[in-house]
Amino acid sequence: MKILVAGGCGFIGSNFVKRLLSDGYEVYVIDDLSRGSLEKLDEYRNHPRLTFFKVDITGEEVFDIQAKFDVVVDFVAYKIPRYSSGLKTLTVNTKGAENLLKIAARDSAKFIMASTSDVYGKSQEFPYGEGGDLVLGPSYSRRWAYAVSKIFNEHMVFAYHDEYGIPFVILRFFGAYGPHQHLDWWGGPVGVFLSNIYKGLPVSIHGDGTQKRTFMYIDDLIEGILRAMKFKDAENEIINIGSSEEISILDLARLIHRLSYPENELKLEFISYESFGNYYEDPKRRIGSYVKMKDILQYAPHYALEEGLKKFIEWFKNRVERGTAV
Ligand SMILES: NC(=O)c1ccc[n+]([C@@H]2O[C@H](COP(=O)([O-])OP(=O)(O)OC[C@H]3O[C@@H](n4cnc5c(N)ncnc54)[C@H](O)[C@@H]3O)[C@@H](O)[C@H]2O)c1
Repeated sequence: MKILVAGGCGFIGSNFVKRLLSDGYEVYVIDDLSRGSLEKLDEYRNHPRLTFFKVDITGEEVFDIQAKFDVVVDFVAYKIPRYSSGLKTLTVNTKGAENLLKIAARDSAKFIMASTSDVYGKSQEFPYGEGGDLVLGPSYSRRWAYAVSKIFNEHMVFAYHDEYGIPFVILRFFGAYGPHQHLDWWGGPVGVFLSNIYKGLPVSIHGDGTQKRTFMYIDDLIEGILRAMKFKDAENEIINIGSSEEISILDLARLIHRLSYPENELKLEFISYESFGNYYEDPKRRIGSYVKMKDILQYAPHYALEEGLKKFIEWFKNRVERGTAV
């Protein structure tokens, strides 16, 4: 099977490419390397079943890539505007997805969309079910641009399915961590906390740190994406993929400190929400319902948080030993 992986040089994409190659698939990676790097695919550089294209998926050049794909996977995204720009978030995410959907329609390929738990916004219907309401805050707060772009893409996926009959799976990820993740805020708290603890820098806690999140080890996430791609029952579904193990951001910082460099002082720096603008909101809780993940994809995460963090910290320490940037 020929799989097109857009954003394959990013965190999740590169880990997915690795798994596809080891499972025997023919893989075509598209990435403009704006936020990813070829270093993440270094060990597969001369792999006979891997082809790489440095292409911006929002442009016309993307249509020159022709291989009659069986599956098109979209991992490209600009995330929360605070870490990039609102314009990039809205245009790259939506224009990019539309171009990839055109390719899927052209090739009658299955489309796999990487959506996010951010689409649930500030809904209070815990745990978030895939059929639940998506409750966003006012447009004055730029943070919602990311969720808006993903909701738009979800609707676009349904529209392409209705018009062209292409099968799809929309996966809503609830935050992942692991090897090859970004070690700044682009990659979320786990990477940036670890990197700062190692460097002896303050760990930034947004608000008072009591907000709770869940984190999934990358191998578990990849297993879910692969099953979603392969299982017939997953077709034309929206499925949450995440862990049920909740932890507050403050406890996450303490846990990473204890497991990584306890000899370094843990310096906490509290950043007020007001500093992010008047209308900024950070949901207090974000937990998914994983009934569909269990029933349709027939799996649950293998790694508990502490176990997964130990593996991630080991990867990080190897990089430190080899003198690779952290
Ligand atoms: N990492 C998480 O915890 C998480 C949580 C929820 C949802 N997601 C979603 O999963 C997907 C993958 O996330 P990630 O953490 O691997 O992100 P990432 O930033 O590591 O990877 C995205 C990749 O897309 C590439 N890219 C950006 N713009 C491009 C363009 N115009 N043309 C071609 N390539 C382009 C970047 O260079 C990068 O390699 C995203 O859609 C994201 O919204 C991730």
